[in-house]
Amino acid sequence: MTVKEKLKELFEKHKGEYLSGERIAADLGCTRGAVWKAVRSLTEDGYRITAVTNRGYRLDEENDVISEEGIREYLKSDAVKKLVVLKTVDSTNLYLKKLASDGAEEGTFVVSGEQTAGRGRLGRSFFSPSDSGIYMSILLKPDMGAESAIRITTAAAVAVAETVENITGKKTSVKWVNDIYAEGRKICGILTEASFNVEFGCFDYAVLGIGINVYEPDGGFPDDIKDRAGAVLSERTADMRNRIIASVADSFMDYYNDIGNRSYFESYEKRLMWKDEPIDIISPAGTKQAVLRGIDDECRLIVEYPDGTEGIVSSGEISIIRK
Ligand code: BTN
Repeated sequence: MTVKEKLKELFEKHKGEYLSGERIAADLGCTRGAVWKAVRSLTEDGYRITAVTNRGYRLDEENDVISEEGIREYLKSDAVKKLVVLKTVDSTNLYLKKLASDGAEEGTFVVSGEQTAGRGRLGRSFFSPSDSGIYMSILLKPDMGAESAIRITTAAAVAVAETVENITGKKTSVKWVNDIYAEGRKICGILTEASFNVEFGCFDYAVLGIGINVYEPDGGFPDDIKDRAGAVLSERTADMRNRIIASVADSFMDYYNDIGNRSYFESYEKRLMWKDEPIDIISPAGTKQAVLRGIDDECRLIVEYPDGTEGIVSSGEISIIRK
């Protein structure tokens, strides 16, 4: 075990208590300089450690650092075949696509504490600051046609919505097709990217990307999203992000392994936002107005156009028309 690992263990045992540099050095059998270096390295990993002259160092109680061991502690199933945890990355979706091209197996997960080029839907970027959110991607090799890809994103939306409700008690809703809202604000976005084999009419693979704002970032959300974006929790809570990641992973893989039965459907339908409200349907072809009537068996949107005809929408984005 390295000095850093031993120090982490000692801190965990004495969470919230001040330990003098001298005492730590004696316990770990190293110099005070080595203790200082290990403290600095843990801080760089995201651990919040308070240092006070004449008292020493203290691991704050509300530490919430994403780690492989931390996630595995909360996993209930063997859904996660391989787990890669990164401190920072351009985009977990991009990273996982590279692993997929190198032959990674279904159930490979990539989780990062920060993204420098997070990708959103419709070519947008996804704000992914360090130490406040969860950015994760899951590699899937679904045995279904491209038209059923919507099942992956909607099942993931349900896994996140149920996890947030179970852990925080907050009510969630889903803005079709895959934005999760709590208290009127978007707390999660989902982006599924796929490589499709045209010759065989099937997926090579799909990469399901989930971004969750667990806490409001230091300095708040940027101006362009601050009216819409929100966080799951207002206070940092010990080990929360590892718990959420494990719960979303277990729950999503359960729904995915039963995807033919659409067991997530009811849970999705009951959280659907803006039923019977007027909406804009935004697609590359332009914007159309309609009233949202519900979803069909495949979670495609059922809408009613101003001339009274019914339509099915399977891609694009919607927004409410405020009167
Ligand atoms: C959206 O709201 O438009 C979708 C956002 C999806 C963000 C997630 S974060 C993890 C994964 N990696 C990315 O680059 N994007 C997705």
